[in-house]
Amino acid sequence: MIKIAELISGPEIAKDIKAEVAEEVSEIVRLKGVRPGLTVILVGDDPASKVYVRNKQLGCEQVGFKSEAIRMDENVSTEDLLKKIDHLNYDINVHGILVQLPLPPQVDKNRVLESIFPEKDVDGFHPMSMGKLVAQQDCLVPATPSGIIEMLKRKDIKIQGKEAVIVGRSVIVGRPMALLLINESATVTVCHTKTRDMGAHTRNAEILIVSAGRPNLIGGDMVSEGTVVIDVGINRISKDQADPEILKWRKDDFETKGATLIGDVNFLEVEPKASYITPVPGGVGPMTIAMLLKNTLKATKMQLGLKL
Ligand code: GUN
Repeated sequence: MIKIAELISGPEIAKDIKAEVAEEVSEIVRLKGVRPGLTVILVGDDPASKVYVRNKQLGCEQVGFKSEAIRMDENVSTEDLLKKIDHLNYDINVHGILVQLPLPPQVDKNRVLESIFPEKDVDGFHPMSMGKLVAQQDCLVPATPSGIIEMLKRKDIKIQGKEAVIVGRSVIVGRPMALLLINESATVTVCHTKTRDMGAHTRNAEILIVSAGRPNLIGGDMVSEGTVVIDVGINRISKDQADPEILKWRKDDFETKGATLIGDVNFLEVEPKASYITPVPGGVGPMTIAMLLKNTLKATKMQLGLKL
């Protein structure tokens, strides 16, 4: 018998979370007459960022939030961006502020992120939010790693005492992921580009979270039987970049779109060994938006003095 890993469906879990958020939104509107509002600032014309922002706005519509996207010119100065954020900081109809990354090089990203009031920092990227996460205090937590914890919990996957290995040490995913897993009492290892013998670590993982931004980085020989595999990577592969296996597997995508999306995990090799695995697409991606909406709800409740 061929063993097949159970797929963890991001869209399904994200739908449940959005339904829960929508229910609470109705309650807040009924009780307080206030509709949660999220404002997203998009600088420049990066096509991927435009898609992300559009999806965030669609998510807002689905749960009954007010949403606004502010477009700013590619050549905007840090000062102009700070002025805009300051205005939003004091706008009582705006409960969450998000500046879509990456920002163009002339903009001082750290000054921008630090200018958002921590109580409106729904991305959780403000040093105050990050510091509270380290200090194990209640705060707004970056959406992708908190979405991963949510996926594991909703699939009843035990975290406590498990060997959890993270590949990637980014500020947005790897680092907060490590802290959240420590809070859940996992034993955590963080691998990165300078790690010697990455396979020795990943083979030891009972929960493996990969966020490296490198297609097919994790092959079948790097994973042990029964591992829970969470693939955070989203890599666009065009027809001329694809190897024959991917060409065959994603034939329809290449014919209709000329490209496909794959993760950092070699799914065809790893899936037969894993106990659970998130596909790409259809895995972690939709969870990020669901958790952003959940953060915006939490921020709104904090600002209105409602019990969490
Ligand atoms: N760019 C890529 N991912 C993210 C994210 O989670 N938040 C923001 N603001 N920008 C991003």
